[in-house]
Amino acid sequence: MKYFFVSTPIYYVNARPHLGHAYSTIVADSIARFHKLAGDTVFFLTGTDEHGDKIVQAAQKAQMDVQRYVDDISSSFQELWPHLEIENDDFIRTTMERHKACVQYVLQKVYDSGDIYFAEYEGLYCYGCERFYTEKELVDGKCPDHQVEPTRIKEKNYFFRMSRYLDALRRHIEEHPEFIQPERYRNEVLAMLREDLGDLCISRPKTRLTWGIDLPFDTDFVTYVWFDALINYISALGYPGDDRFRKFWSGAHHIVAKDILKPHAIFWPTMLMAAGLPLYKGLRVHGYWTVGETKMSKSLGNVVAPLDMAQRYGVAAFRYFLLAEMSFGQDASFTEEALVQRFNADLANDLGNLFSRTLTMTHKYCGGRVPECGELTELDREVLSIGHNALANFQGQFQHFHFSRAVASLWELVRHLNKYIDKSAPWALFKAGETIRLNTVLYVVLEGMRKVALHLWPVMPSLSEAMLEQLGWKWDLAAVDLEGETSSWFGLQPGTPVAASSNLFPRKEVVAAPKPEPKTAAPTKEAVDFEVFSQLDLRVGTVVEALPHPQADRLLLVRLDDGGTEPRQVVAGIAESWKPADLLGRQVVFVANLKPRKLRGQVSQGMILAVKTKDGLALLSPTSPVPPGSVVS
Ligand code: ME8
Ligand code: MG
Repeated sequence: MKYFFVSTPIYYVNARPHLGHAYSTIVADSIARFHKLAGDTVFFLTGTDEHGDKIVQAAQKAQMDVQRYVDDISSSFQELWPHLEIENDDFIRTTMERHKACVQYVLQKVYDSGDIYFAEYEGLYCYGCERFYTEKELVDGKCPDHQVEPTRIKEKNYFFRMSRYLDALRRHIEEHPEFIQPERYRNEVLAMLREDLGDLCISRPKTRLTWGIDLPFDTDFVTYVWFDALINYISALGYPGDDRFRKFWSGAHHIVAKDILKPHAIFWPTMLMAAGLPLYKGLRVHGYWTVGETKMSKSLGNVVAPLDMAQRYGVAAFRYFLLAEMSFGQDASFTEEALVQRFNADLANDLGNLFSRTLTMTHKYCGGRVPECGELTELDREVLSIGHNALANFQGQFQHFHFSRAVASLWELVRHLNKYIDKSAPWALFKAGETIRLNTVLYVVLEGMRKVALHLWPVMPSLSEAMLEQLGWKWDLAAVDLEGETSSWFGLQPGTPVAASSNLFPRKEVVAAPKPEPKTAAPTKEAVDFEVFSQLDLRVGTVVEALPHPQADRLLLVRLDDGGTEPRQVVAGIAESWKPADLLGRQVVFVANLKPRKLRGQVSQGMILAVKTKDGLALLSPTSPVPPGSVVS
């Protein structure tokens, strides 16, 4: 039994989730699922990073209490993940007690062993990065990431004796090529280690910042956010006491983008060494998603909203695109056109056609059940060998985070299956009455489809399950034998009913983003005195009867209980949005003292209030029932 632990960065709560956060988390979910398929015991962690100046500043800007602010943004991350079919095992927040206790435990441990000291320091600080910069790291005097000049800060602080561990770290990286991957980032870290990195400032005086975790040995200081945040990876596992830590830590993999390479590749391992803990197993570093040529950034207003994409194109298409498009480690550009194009080519055409034609043929020629597989010919054996190779490649590539290459391997099988159908021409075999051969061909294809669907589970979980269901294969994670899939071709049980047709991948087009409704319409009418406004008699009425207007399609005759003895009739232009039956019993707001007038021959005593929206008319009504005739004031 192998234990696999995978984490995403814990995201800052100074902005709502965007495509970049979604990507790292989808990658983590996919690799977690892949290891589940392989039979490993998996723990998948994500969360939010909630301390530090930057968060306090963001809360102030939003004019919110800091705790309420962090609660709000943290839940927007937690609520998003299920919509993207992300199933994390835990969600850690650095403001949780269990995390704080663990941070203090580690600090005390490192302090006791003599690796934390007190000193005065002056340096250039970037609030965006929450770290000091050396002159050399700056570009034109500015932080290369945030394009702002750092602030010169001089103060007394606590320091972690990081320098003591840098040699050991360098040796570890040299001896364990899989520790940091892809290779270019491993080399980058080795280059950093050739510079004089010195020690790490790990505190902030409370005179400057209180939103943080108290140092256990000096409560005039709070912990520097990075020293706090990195510990989430073990606090979530219940370090020091919990069994989960003992089981999972040895299989730990961290996923990050290149922006936070240094803290993960240098601060964190040296912290672990100082705390006497084993290092994580692997750091996997990806590049940036850009929008067109420019880096996605909140200030440029070009962030891609993941939920919006998943809603417009489907979560399967979204996840497939992200994993297939980005070569892990390099930057990639996100456009909806590319997403749609890839979906149509790979999923609607290649895979979608394979499914729909094969299921249709199985119904036409084999009574809708998986047929018996007869003796294999040279042509069939070629499919098996290409298939087994493609799957073994997929598994090897996926395991090593080469998602785009993995998907490309799988598609070699998909395309080959389509070619094999064309070559074998089941329709001709059917005409010629060659039943055994026909059954064999369809069996070979159906089994290939099952294998493709199964291997797509880490990429697009629910769609993979739907594909397997169409093939009559009962989804049971525990029964999957991933390695066996690369050597045997006989998973499907002959006689199992399959779906009559498949339309899992209808072609897509680029969908226009829903136009944001203008928040408030510009004033279109002249200002009136309160006296004028107060002449209006607005009231609530309950609809007791509603009928079509005999002479006008747009109008309804609405009879309202207004508290009087007789219902009041109002002629309302709402027929396009409202069926009479849906109005019955509803409470509406109406103008009670509008002079009665005739509309197409029917008397109207008042006017019902409504709001025009893109989906039609929304009626105004009280949030809870009120007595009919109640005055609106
Ligand atoms: O750095 N492309 O949080 P953060 C790809 N709290 N990935 C992107 C991206 C983009 N354009 N933009 C963001 C922090 N990401 C710290 C981490 S961990 C102990 C503390 C993803 O909110 C990517 O994973 O700034 C990147 O590393 C992370 O979001 C940064 O998130
Ligand atoms: Mg950032």
